[in-house]
Amino acid sequence: MALKATNPTKTDSWKKLSSHFESIKSKHLKDLFKSDTKRAEELTIKWDDFYVDFSKNRITKETLDLLLALANELELKDAIAKYFEGDIINATEGRAVSHTALRAPKDAEVFVDGVNVIPEVHLVKDKIKNFTNSIVNGDHRGYTGKVITDVVNIGIGGSDLGPAMVVDSLQYYKNHLQTHFVSNVDGDHHQEVIKNLDPETTLFVIVSKTFTTQETLSNANSIRAWFLESQPKEAVSKHFVAVSTNIESVKEFGIDESNIFPMKDWVGGRFSLWSAVGLSISLALGYKNFESLLIGANKMDEHFRTSDFDKNIPVISALLTIWYNNFFNAESEAIIPYTQYLNQFATYLQQGIMESNGKSVDRDGNRITYETGTLIWGEPGTNSQHAFFQLIHQGTKLIPADFIGFIESLHGNKDHHNKLMSNYFAQTEALMNGKTEAEVRSEFNGKSLTEGDINKLTPFKIFEGNKPTTSVLIQRLTPESLGKLIAMYEHKIFVQGIIWNIYSYDQFGVELGKQLAKSILNELNEDTTPVHHDVSTQALIACYKNNY
Ligand code: F6P
Repeated sequence: MALKATNPTKTDSWKKLSSHFESIKSKHLKDLFKSDTKRAEELTIKWDDFYVDFSKNRITKETLDLLLALANELELKDAIAKYFEGDIINATEGRAVSHTALRAPKDAEVFVDGVNVIPEVHLVKDKIKNFTNSIVNGDHRGYTGKVITDVVNIGIGGSDLGPAMVVDSLQYYKNHLQTHFVSNVDGDHHQEVIKNLDPETTLFVIVSKTFTTQETLSNANSIRAWFLESQPKEAVSKHFVAVSTNIESVKEFGIDESNIFPMKDWVGGRFSLWSAVGLSISLALGYKNFESLLIGANKMDEHFRTSDFDKNIPVISALLTIWYNNFFNAESEAIIPYTQYLNQFATYLQQGIMESNGKSVDRDGNRITYETGTLIWGEPGTNSQHAFFQLIHQGTKLIPADFIGFIESLHGNKDHHNKLMSNYFAQTEALMNGKTEAEVRSEFNGKSLTEGDINKLTPFKIFEGNKPTTSVLIQRLTPESLGKLIAMYEHKIFVQGIIWNIYSYDQFGVELGKQLAKSILNELNEDTTPVHHDVSTQALIACYKNNY
């Protein structure tokens, strides 16, 4: 059954939210806390090893009730059921969106096109498990009999970002295999990666859902050519495996069917790390850790699917984006993990969130008249404090931010962890409270400054505060908790798409530039005169071809 299509701005709840916004837009978070002593408790959700505090957001109980009413009016519950039951909710591509089936237990049933997909999901998982074990324990050796020491994942977008982020984030749990990622069609990228590799001890995992992506096929071809400079053709089967839905094209590339890890078209690229696309994760961390990642995601799936909306982390988190984006006109959201391990997390979510919800046509095909997808950015704290926090604290833009922290550090250095987490707590408190003129002036007490100097300096030292943040505090960074965290954002994306009345699971926006690049490539290679371009592009191409 198709998703319903309702313009959210035409609902009663939206109208109520608009007038409620007028009454709340100038209220300061400090005052909201003063007037409601139970605020922190009531706006915090404790679930498993997650403590999610929404109370430093510019909302009241009434705001939340109105946002929840909006979700109900737009029949979110019904949409969630369709999402989990394998309905064709990616209507523009005629597909189900069933990445949640990839982490469902063996006895679950998810029907896509009338077929229960769970048995096949588990067959592929078994294949990943067996292959991982044979590489990790040295049973599967290279052509010359040496054990595999290095794994190179060749893919781009969803076939790269998810595995790369998870392997980097969970490097504490890594085994002896060195894992590398080649994604950019920039030849320097793969050259830098392979220059120190020994072809006799390296496994290449080519990951492409379509097996038509220019970047991935170019890199795969160049790397295979490099491999064949020193190894015979028969060695390819020991060193190249592929993950794809396009079995025929993989075979044409020269990979044995037994070395293909299949995936299904109901798994979107940016949600595919749970499928065979996660093979590099399994190889780098061991299958058990890959399985724990999936178990964590499944726990978040169950939380999202079954919890009441007022206690539902992804639902509230998504509704807050709507609140800031559509009422406060906030254009971006920052994601600030207080762990260096999650260095690539915001980059990973940029694809998940912006490729999904960067849409301007609604589910009826009409041009949208309200704002949709937010800009996503972020870097780990405390580094980001020394980079862009100035703008969040004292700039002109409202930037809601998620602060992700962990109670325990992995290496157990309490001294450093306390320093790190003191910043985590301090920043959200400072962003909320700011610093008043009176506070600034009192700090000048005892300093040898004239009254005139104090008056001049004071405005620059005032912090308005009232900057919204959500604190996500998790016990420890583990494969399971990371699985939960990623799934939390996946479901947030889904809820946003439902409310905005858009299709979140296609990505036609990436096509136009790709098509044009193909014809320009012909011009670059064939030395023809560029005639079909605007004068700016024409001049730039001429500059490139003429070597200036
Ligand atoms: O960037 C567009 C896109 O289609 C992504 O959605 C996808 O993750 C990526 O390209 C790679 O595609 P493929 O896995 O088919 O090579």
